[in-house]
Amino acid sequence: MKQTIIITGGAGFIGSHVVRLFVIKYPDYSIVNLDDLTYAGNLENLRDIESSPNYVFEKVNILDQAGLKRVFAQYNPTGVIHLAAESHVDRSIHSPLDFVYTNVIGTVNLLNAAKEAWQGQYRGKRFYHVSTDEVYGALGETGFFTEETRYDPHSPYSASKASSDHFVRAYGDTYGLPQVISNCSNNYGPNHFPEKLIPLFINNIIQKKPLPVYGDGLYTRDWLFVKDHATAIDLVYHKGENHSTYNIGGFNEWKNIDLVKLLCSLMDKKLNNAPGTSDQLITYIKDRPGHDRRYAIDASKINKELGWKPSVSFEEGLQLTIDWYFDNQEWLKHVTSGEYLKYYETQYQS
Ligand code: NAD
Ligand code: DAU
Repeated sequence: MKQTIIITGGAGFIGSHVVRLFVIKYPDYSIVNLDDLTYAGNLENLRDIESSPNYVFEKVNILDQAGLKRVFAQYNPTGVIHLAAESHVDRSIHSPLDFVYTNVIGTVNLLNAAKEAWQGQYRGKRFYHVSTDEVYGALGETGFFTEETRYDPHSPYSASKASSDHFVRAYGDTYGLPQVISNCSNNYGPNHFPEKLIPLFINNIIQKKPLPVYGDGLYTRDWLFVKDHATAIDLVYHKGENHSTYNIGGFNEWKNIDLVKLLCSLMDKKLNNAPGTSDQLITYIKDRPGHDRRYAIDASKINKELGWKPSVSFEEGLQLTIDWYFDNQEWLKHVTSGEYLKYYETQYQS
């Protein structure tokens, strides 16, 4: 069926990979990228597809109810894939209200816009909310997050995402809005904003700057290549069951310090450095408050029901990522000027 899909946050890291996948894979669809271009949104991420006939960009803030109403009336979407969010935990510790506005109120605005545009005519319609494994809180040494794990968020970011998930489910239960949610683990790959661990450390190694490891460095994350997340989103959007949740993850757990050492060794090879050169930049600094010890996703439901599994190994994905940052130094320069420098100073001042 021909579709018109509003993808919010399409100029960001994951959103840009989702927009590209849909624009190329579904030439009959119309893809509307709705994004307000905050510090994390960058149309350079989409240069290669921006002139495609099935793609259009709308600069709209999801806090702008009139703007959303206008876009829904103009394009008459069959679906929404909602990725727009404030996404960085450290920023949420400095400015929690920004996360409440965009992640909670912005999501409710979008739900209202869909509900009002669709007027109960829900056949063939779908509201897909992209969320995070951080809503489940922290694991001990063992175990996995399943779709049944109780929500237990610890940071303002994860609390705002948990709240938005609850609102999406509430709109399903109360108004019958056809909704689906996925909760994914840590993504990495091209176009990742260099405030997050992997791209920050790639940039710092290039700049010969310290690599600031929080606390004891023994925190564990489950890493997934961003293009594998995009293919999972494609499957959930098309084949997922309404009013369901799907956990998405890489079955790829790494303690931060082990990941950083692997990254250092790959970077040393890339830079023709003597082995061990980049390790010398590792600097332990004070911990992130409320830091969740371990995340690990049980992705067996999406595997069994929709046949999804990650296709890129971690070493392959990291190498692709490093190569991308070396080939796109202009992109890196553009995003690490201005506001970024102020953020960096505040976050990493001793
Ligand atoms: P990102 O920060 O790279 O991009 C967010 C995008 O949303 C940007 O393009 C930004 O301009 C836009 N945006 C922010 N506020 C907006 C507003 N008020 N109105 C309109 N647009 C706005 O984020 P990301 O890492 O690509 O994450 C995308 C989504 O996936 C988020 O909802 C995040 O919670 C979720 N998620 C991320 C990860 C991860 O590892 N990055 C993992 C699981 C889930
Ligand atoms: O789990 C999914 C989540 O993954 C997404 O919902 C978030 O949007 C995304 O930002 C990411 O959150 P994390 O907090 O896990 O990612 P981050 O890259 O900020 O940190 C990864 C780990 O590395 C975490 O344990 C904190 C640590 N870290 C991070 C930074 C930026 C450091 O030790 N030093 C750093 O400078």
